[in-house]
Amino acid sequence: MKIEKILKNKRLSREDIARLLSIKSPETIELLRVKAYETLIENCGEKVFLRGIVEFSNVCSNDCYYCGIRKSAQKVKRYSLDKAEIIEIAKRCAKMGYGSIVVQSGERDDAKFIDFVEDTIRTIKEKTKSDKLPNGLGITLCVGEQSEEAYRRFFEAGAHRYLLRVETSDKRLYESLHPKEMSFENRVKCLKTLKKIGYQVGTGVMIGLPGQTIENLADDVLFFRDMDVDMIGMGPYLLSKNTPLKSYEKKYIRRKDDIYSLSLKMIAVTRLVLKDVNIASTTALQTINSNGRLAGLSFGANVFMPSLTPSESRKEYNLYEDKHKVDDTDKYKGGLSVLETDKIKRPIGYDEWGDSPRFFKKNERK
Ligand code: 5AD
Repeated sequence: MKIEKILKNKRLSREDIARLLSIKSPETIELLRVKAYETLIENCGEKVFLRGIVEFSNVCSNDCYYCGIRKSAQKVKRYSLDKAEIIEIAKRCAKMGYGSIVVQSGERDDAKFIDFVEDTIRTIKEKTKSDKLPNGLGITLCVGEQSEEAYRRFFEAGAHRYLLRVETSDKRLYESLHPKEMSFENRVKCLKTLKKIGYQVGTGVMIGLPGQTIENLADDVLFFRDMDVDMIGMGPYLLSKNTPLKSYEKKYIRRKDDIYSLSLKMIAVTRLVLKDVNIASTTALQTINSNGRLAGLSFGANVFMPSLTPSESRKEYNLYEDKHKVDDTDKYKGGLSVLETDKIKRPIGYDEWGDSPRFFKKNERK
């Protein structure tokens, strides 16, 4: 079937999705991009929403084979910001009009950590209320797999969105990338628990993982649809020298252009299939290509996440090589001036939470 015809289908099949992800010619990719962009405007409007992101600790008890801050990575200097530092960052986030904050860290599930996160969330809420933000900053939490009780405590403290990437929806691929203490089933169970509690739930995958096929990625999009999630954050898999996947390097460098283009196509296809979700244009996209985040927005993403992590800590939050070079903090308006240039003629949702339209429509349907 011709691509033009596939793009007219009301409901895309697995084969359609795989076909769209395989497009190579620039003209055809442009057809896909335009269709995804139109779908975005129709379902979410033109606005780009902002979330300042604070990566408050790189201490992690997991040992994922791809991740630069995994437990066994020896060279990483471990840091944890204290509460006062995080609150200062949150206040700055609110002052700059970002409207929402993403609070992210390496994964821990000890009592001290849970108490700390709960207390910090509650204080961010209190300290960021203003005339512009009567309910304080919107808070998205991203601290990995936790117990139902911990998720409830965070929700009651004021986090109303949660990001937990599934990384890949293929159980076997998932298992090849994680030590056996981590299970695909538990990841999915956590996503369901988060939904049950009432969070707006985000998930996502890495694109270009060793051993990943186009069909895997098509299944990932169907997984997002079947899980009926509200938000998507995904980006290219990038190499980290601190990891066992380092041996994959040569192959990876050869595939870099492909992976970038595939990441943009994944955003576009996810937009076509899920329509009214929020999709982030991620730091990983910007790391792989210096125009990456703007391109992501033009392929159907509508969320932009300037980093607010202090620069000394940011250097130590290298999930992958060169992540810290994407610098929005020092230049400050850095991340935003990119958006404000005439390169992108889209309004920015200052002082708004910018929640996922899908979440509310879903609740109306109930
Ligand atoms: N390349 C790209 N993304 C990565 N992440 C972790 N390591 C890498 C890497 N090497 C992503 C994972 C995780 C998120 C916080 O960072 O998808 O969920």
